Amino acid sequence: MPEYATRLESLIPAEASQLLSLAKEMQRQGKDVITLCVGEPDFDTHIEAKLAAKNAIDAGETKYAPLAGIHELRLAICEKFKRDNKLNYAVENVIASTGGKQVIFNALMATLNQGDEVILPAPYWAGYPDVVRVCGGEPAFVETDEADDYILRPRALADAITDRSKWVIINSPSNPTGAVYERPELESLADVLRDYPDIWIMTDDIYEHVVFDDVEFTTLASVAPDLKNRILTVNGCSKSYAMTGWRIGFGAANAELIRRMITIQSQITLAPSTISQWAAVKALNDNLAFNDEQIDILRTRRDLAVSIFNETTGLRCNRPKGAYYLYVNCEELLGKKTPAGTVMETDRDLARYFLEEAEVAVMPGSAYGLSPYFRVSYGVSTPELEEGCMCIKAACAALAHR
Ligand SMILES: Cc1ncc(COP(=O)(O)O)c(C=O)c1O
Repeated sequence: MPEYATRLESLIPAEASQLLSLAKEMQRQGKDVITLCVGEPDFDTHIEAKLAAKNAIDAGETKYAPLAGIHELRLAICEKFKRDNKLNYAVENVIASTGGKQVIFNALMATLNQGDEVILPAPYWAGYPDVVRVCGGEPAFVETDEADDYILRPRALADAITDRSKWVIINSPSNPTGAVYERPELESLADVLRDYPDIWIMTDDIYEHVVFDDVEFTTLASVAPDLKNRILTVNGCSKSYAMTGWRIGFGAANAELIRRMITIQSQITLAPSTISQWAAVKALNDNLAFNDEQIDILRTRRDLAVSIFNETTGLRCNRPKGAYYLYVNCEELLGKKTPAGTVMETDRDLARYFLEEAEVAVMPGSAYGLSPYFRVSYGVSTPELEEGCMCIKAACAALAHR
């Protein structure tokens, strides 16, 4: 048989996808599985963005676009950064890609050499470690603390830096914890990073518009303008504009990094879908991110789920300031037995138990590098969320001491 690439050997098979396939299989068998594990809200794309795409099709905008995106979209991205983040970027400082994921891939591929380290605060978005490995790098995990709202602190960052460190990635609001870095926290990280001019900094702001309780979203490039030249700000339409399927992400950085990212992009996808780009132009220019009403709905869901979990024996969780995830501590349930006699050794066992017995799909914390926890996404309808949380509560109550 012909052989496969060795680079795949370093990739850990995504346990997330195994659980999701089991949930899908159960649904196929007619079971009523509640999926609290998807990374997108149940809101629809704004009608104006849809119309812009339809108009683009009718106007014949169906051909290849320039590699870094159509000029109108690059301008809209610059305007968005000016309006929302008080950041000035020129067109040559921005790139549009096929999702935020591709912006990250382009950047790592353009900068990592074999063995370079990428500092990832844990828990991290499950997509980071493997993209680092695919690009030849090694993830360097730094655990954060639930009691400290999962915020990477300057001391922990400084301790994680080695002479192989090439990037540090900060994701705020965070997937999977919903933690938000506010200005003082970003300032203290900037203080550390100033001493390491050879380290790139990526801020993944893709959940920018999903913040609650009067929290003001802030991004590192505006907090520490002196570091702007080595910051890549990643953002996109997926998560805050209900446009996950359109596949439009974007990044802003110094023109040289962007030029190299375009070179990488030219070897994979070329530009993102021209039609989606026109939808994104409308979404950005008209500021079609979630409106106050939608944020209120998400906040209500967050509060509902937080209160159910904090009333559940063996569970506890923080009330996050952003995104649409809860990271629920399930430490007290480990060692307990299901009615069928299976002992819960890990958060993976527990997620499987919830799926098989309560018919609720959640993601185990092991997928995000900090256990024992599970992640709940509340991007589903409020009644469905309530039912899912209540089923989890009942399943927890059915666990007995060994
Ligand atoms: C933190 C984070 N960054 C990036 C992405 C990728 O976004 P996109 O769908 O635009 O590729 C995701 C998607 O789950 C995410 O959660």
